[in-house]
Amino acid sequence: MQAPYPIILGISGSERAGGNTDLALDYAGRLVRERDAEFRTIHLRDHLISPCSPCGDCNLRTTPCELRDDMSAIIEKMKEADGIIYAAPVHGFGLAHLMQIFIERAGVGFLRFERPLANKVGGIIVTGRRYSDASVHNQIVDNLLLNRMILVGSGFPALLHNTSPEPQLQDTEGLEALERMVHRMVDMIHLLRSHQAATGKPALPPDDRNERTARPLRLLAGAGDTH
Ligand SMILES: Cc1cc2nc3c(=O)[nH]c(=O)nc-3n(C[C@H](O)[C@H](O)[C@H](O)COP(=O)(O)O)c2cc1C
Repeated sequence: MQAPYPIILGISGSERAGGNTDLALDYAGRLVRERDAEFRTIHLRDHLISPCSPCGDCNLRTTPCELRDDMSAIIEKMKEADGIIYAAPVHGFGLAHLMQIFIERAGVGFLRFERPLANKVGGIIVTGRRYSDASVHNQIVDNLLLNRMILVGSGFPALLHNTSPEPQLQDTEGLEALERMVHRMVDMIHLLRSHQAATGKPALPPDDRNERTARPLRLLAGAGDTH
């Protein structure tokens, strides 16, 4: 059952309340609300999220991870949204640990079985001083694509620089990119919702639910090309 208005969920992977990442996500939230959509936020730092343990049994499991923490509640919130913005700082030339742990647990523990984020519209905000933000962005792109989310091209990536120790939104070029991203996300969500409302079906068929199910190579198997 569709909510009457689009819902975008922002996930902050910063451990600093009110820091650059939170400011950027709040900015995105204000834009989303101006478009008559609902914006919800999850701050990973406020939740109990265990790192992946050495059990390794997720490789054999067909059901979600059994570690008892806040992960399954967060996954449910993600499922309710039409769009999800992942916002994270760069730490040590890579993805800051809260988002890294979250992505690992969400991916192997919950999302790999049925790909429930398929067709949700994804957005990414990376904050940093200036080093390796693009590689962090690329990492999150790969993760969203793995989850069959829809990334809408909107110009430059939303990479926000701040060289001051004080949290602030000073990077006007980064903010311009962020604005474009949010507007294109909302536009795409409206498009997908209008298709669903008109046909009762998702715009992209939800078959082939995960990559662990064998999928024979059609052309190598000699089935021919009908297109
Ligand atoms: C431990 C640590 C490591 C960092 N490493 C990098 C880095 O490799 N590259 C970079 O550009 N900025 C780095 N920064 C700066 C942060 O990415 C930047 O200040 C970011 O906006 C912080 O977000 P926050 O205010 O939400 O915590 C680092 C900051 C910290 C605390």
